[in-house]
Amino acid sequence: MTVTIVGSQLGDEGKGALVDLWGGDADIVVRYQGGDNAGHTVVEDGEEYKLSLVPSGAVRDKVGVLGNGCVINPRTLFSEIDDLRECGLDPDVRLAKRAHVIMPYHRRLDNIEEEAKADSDLTVGTTGRGIGPTYEDKAGRRGIRVGDLLDPDVLRQRLEYVVPQKQALIEDVYGLEAGEECDVEALVEEYTEIGRRLREDDMAVNCGDFLAERREAGDNVMFEGAQGTLIDIDHGSYPYVTSSNPTAGGAATGTGVGPTVVGQGEVVGIVKSYLSRVGEGPMPTELKDDDREEELADFIREKGGEFGTVTGRPRRIGWLDMPMLRHAARVSGFTGIAVNHLDVLAGLDEVKVGHAYELEGDERLTMPATTERWGECEPVLKEFDTWPEVDWAAVAEEGYDAIPDAAQDYLEYLSDELDVPIYAVGVGPGREQTVHIENPFDD
Ligand code: GDP
Ligand code: IMO
Ligand code: MG
Repeated sequence: MTVTIVGSQLGDEGKGALVDLWGGDADIVVRYQGGDNAGHTVVEDGEEYKLSLVPSGAVRDKVGVLGNGCVINPRTLFSEIDDLRECGLDPDVRLAKRAHVIMPYHRRLDNIEEEAKADSDLTVGTTGRGIGPTYEDKAGRRGIRVGDLLDPDVLRQRLEYVVPQKQALIEDVYGLEAGEECDVEALVEEYTEIGRRLREDDMAVNCGDFLAERREAGDNVMFEGAQGTLIDIDHGSYPYVTSSNPTAGGAATGTGVGPTVVGQGEVVGIVKSYLSRVGEGPMPTELKDDDREEELADFIREKGGEFGTVTGRPRRIGWLDMPMLRHAARVSGFTGIAVNHLDVLAGLDEVKVGHAYELEGDERLTMPATTERWGECEPVLKEFDTWPEVDWAAVAEEGYDAIPDAAQDYLEYLSDELDVPIYAVGVGPGREQTVHIENPFDD
């Protein structure tokens, strides 16, 4: 069977932790979109692993696949694999031949474009990893795919076509000097060598065929979404989004497994008990209106360690946003959710949730489709009883009933509003710091 893990909010919901938790029952863990803009954390026996490209199942020795929907920077992939080897792991990672390659000129252009937007309010606050420019080239049919790295003639032909365009863009449009990222010969040499390594290590696969064979042999597959619903290019807060589809539909298009297969499995939305956002864009429940809110945001940020895994940027903080979650549950068709970071809200003087929005005098339970209208929404807040700091390790061991009553009310409200069961509750970063309710791999 398959289990698809999807970020319900703005990324960093703790997806890595749940992939690790349930990944014990998976045979293969597959990323279906995004690239090294992701930063997924797994904490095993106090050891923290930060994974950007290698699927989080690596910590449990599972085969990892980067599907055709991913954009792959081979430089960062190999350095991540090397780092993990130094930590004693031996990641087995396969790359879809149809996946696109992030080239050095994509990174350069990502940063140049962000800089160019800096004078307007159009800056996205990207991770600077070249994600957007690589997906642009994919859609523009001028991308370099993993399969192209295996064939030096094809690689050369494609680079000879595309690099002069990038050079012209950097020099003639942005008035900057192009550098080694536009040196065709150097690129052919480096990326042919990368292709050789991929071939030697048998890393490049036809993703759809590979997964079909493994599924026929009875393997359980976990799809590991990166980013989150509100930064999905179609269903998120455009243009303050990433350039792929983190929502569950991406698991099919991004791997070559049929949507019926994904739909017959479980689709689990990962929910953080509050909101965090790195990068620009609206956030109606953001805690920033006065000193008191800012203090509260600082407290949550420190306690929850809310600093970007990839860029180290402090994350913006807000109350849980229910219209956002209703949208996420519908777009991906959640069959269940996992709620993380319940411990972070413990001991606060107040706990609130954005239950609805008010827009031009009307109360609405769902999000408007345009980001400008979303930015005009005022949250209609619902207040909850607070819960105290407790021994969360003991709670995780004892189970759901040991969760403080007020926190249980909070969880039940969430489950009722979204009309989905809760499969797990995160009460700390470690694998053991999770309250198990149901394992989505169990029939
Ligand atoms: P991802 O991108 O969705 O995998 O999430 P990140 O790894 O970027 O950010 C989540 C952070 O919260 C990581 O540092 C996790 O170790 C940590 N974390 C995950 N679940 C919990 C939880 O339930 N409580 C606390 N306090 N931290 C958690
Ligand atoms: P994980 O998988 C949180 C944000 C960036 C920026 C926008 C576009 O760890 O949850 P990009 O570099 O993708 O073009 O940036 O998306 N962003 C993330 N925010 N978690 C992530 O990944 C993110 N990946 C990208 O901050 O606002
Ligand atoms: Mg992250």
